[in-house]
Amino acid sequence: MDKLQDILNEITATLATREERGKPADYIPPLAHVSPQHFGIAVALNEGGLFTAGEADLPFSIQSISKVFTLTLALGMYGDALWRRVGREPSGSAFNSIVLLEQEKGIPRNPFINPGALVVADALLAHARAPRETIGEILRFLRFVSDDETISADPLVARAEKATGFRNAALANYLHSWGNLMNPPDHVLGVYFHHCAVTMSCAQLARAGGFLANAGRNPVTGRSVISSVRARRINALMMTCGHYDGSGDFAYRVGIPGKSGVGGGILAIVPGVASVAVWSPGLNANGNSLLGSEALEMLSHRMGWSVF
Ligand code: DON
Repeated sequence: MDKLQDILNEITATLATREERGKPADYIPPLAHVSPQHFGIAVALNEGGLFTAGEADLPFSIQSISKVFTLTLALGMYGDALWRRVGREPSGSAFNSIVLLEQEKGIPRNPFINPGALVVADALLAHARAPRETIGEILRFLRFVSDDETISADPLVARAEKATGFRNAALANYLHSWGNLMNPPDHVLGVYFHHCAVTMSCAQLARAGGFLANAGRNPVTGRSVISSVRARRINALMMTCGHYDGSGDFAYRVGIPGKSGVGGGILAIVPGVASVAVWSPGLNANGNSLLGSEALEMLSHRMGWSVF
């Protein structure tokens, strides 16, 4: 796979010269200080081998990418019953929008917008009963899927999100008022902020997504994580909802399932082939990594990886 390594090197070199790099998220104070000059990419192939370029080993805040893993965990606990509390449709609005929640009586459009992820956090909490226990369970799951015991959450980021997360607090309280949170909003927010505050590198994230690329089974350890049907469905949700109001554009340009985070990371899945993680902290207007999207567009084009 010399060709893949060459392509990753070329993409990294091309993007290094870009002046327009987007703007790092500034509503979470520790993220505002991360330089938009960073760039890393990692590709974990199902057939074996991890290919990287740039700062692929530098940990960053995975933010909303964590929602793929909390959804996977919650589906394992509740199965299809989870869909009574959260939908599976793109929202066509911002990740932190409250607008549809009133029209749709407290049922969030999908598990990746903030209100949907809060419902998923509530479901996980109801299963484990204490925020600390739930956060531990999420971290254990991330360590299991990535086969890496070092993965953890950054308490500074979690604390900063709690201190500034008035919009998320509003969403949690609003969900509670519709009867779609079983636990105190404070507890749900605690779980949510901690899973958003997990730090991982592109290399760790690409490995962690391996089970989604490989029909539910970790391609390195061979351990089964979820069924192939469920992996396919999670990929479908990533494709339709993973980039919020930019999901259509991502599908058009990149053509593979992807989930972004405001830390500037994107996890993208090439079903049957590879799990890809990219990181560049500058965001576009929809809150998705500007250069990360561009890197994936180039990679998918050069490798013929679009599913369409
Ligand atoms: O709740 C928030 O606003 C952040 N913890 C996560 C948002 C996010 O990553 C949206 N993705 N692009």
